[in-house]
Amino acid sequence: MEKIILTGDRPTGKLHLGHYVGSIKKRLEMQASNDYDKMYVMIADSQALTDNFDNPSKIRESVKEIILDYLACGLDPEKITFFIQSMIPELTEYTFYYLNLVTLARLERNPTVKNELQQKEFKNNIPVGFLCYPVSQAADITLFKATHIPVGVDQLPMLEQTNEIVRKFNSLYGNTLVECEAILPDNEICFRLPGIDGKNKMSKSLGNCIYLSDEEDILKEKVMKMYTDPNHIKVSDPGQIEGNVVFTYLDAFETPELFTKYCKDYVSLAELKKAYQKGGVGDMYIKKILFNILNDILTPIRERRKEYAKDMDKVYAILKQGTSNAREVAKTNLKEFKKALRIDYFD
Ligand code: TRP
Repeated sequence: MEKIILTGDRPTGKLHLGHYVGSIKKRLEMQASNDYDKMYVMIADSQALTDNFDNPSKIRESVKEIILDYLACGLDPEKITFFIQSMIPELTEYTFYYLNLVTLARLERNPTVKNELQQKEFKNNIPVGFLCYPVSQAADITLFKATHIPVGVDQLPMLEQTNEIVRKFNSLYGNTLVECEAILPDNEICFRLPGIDGKNKMSKSLGNCIYLSDEEDILKEKVMKMYTDPNHIKVSDPGQIEGNVVFTYLDAFETPELFTKYCKDYVSLAELKKAYQKGGVGDMYIKKILFNILNDILTPIRERRKEYAKDMDKVYAILKQGTSNAREVAKTNLKEFKKALRIDYFD
């Protein structure tokens, strides 16, 4: 069976460190491995509209930011087909027929949707489009026959629901669709990167993000503001590691090379942690190390982003070409899909 990688992001703002460790890093790894037949990265503007239908300009603007972030991170248009979701009308057709295979109760039980519904406080006025976005996500994945999906853990319920639809479709209409599996980050600390406030997951709406495009001075400011251990008042006080965002980020981002480059006094992160717990290591000290490590990772991304931003025509051309290639695949696969559904009348 072919190995087809597909993933995507909602364009509701720039990408942040949570996106980076949650999925972008895996994409870069998979891209470098060359061990796949096809790789797609989709900008999910239609999905973003399901809860931003009152603000289409924000979504349109964010498409630009997201493709810049992708290219800046090193995702390579020679190896990846980038496309815009709304430009593939075949996705809407898939979604329409999938709606027959899913119950309202099942949609309401989807843990990710449930969580989002709580945050949004729609009460009894839930827009149907929003509730159904997992079905449209099943279309994104299956239209391209994707088998491997690099995503964060919050997307696992979406993939589970996708595979349920696949099984139902195949059992009713014959073996047509393929199931997919999630590709999660190797390091569990990256499953759910907290925001700099330490309270919640990093999220634009909570204002606790570090963006991949943040300038050096902004990055420094954000690291210096990070939540640590509120009881670690004097340098000599023993400090706590658990819940201390600086250490969570060090766990997520350090490599032995980066650590040695920016910390001369301790041989490893484990040793630094021990010393901090014992007392005698200040918050400023650990924040400086973290800042340097993050800045080391983000500097090339920031610079590449500026280079690409100088030539937006070229950036749009990449997106246009990818979308056109994806559309060809979509047309071919839709034919097979319609045949299975016995609605291929004039073929
Ligand atoms: N729901 C994903 C997110 O919020 C975006 C997305 C849309 C996606 N379609 C997808 C991810 C298909 C993987 C596969 O980030």
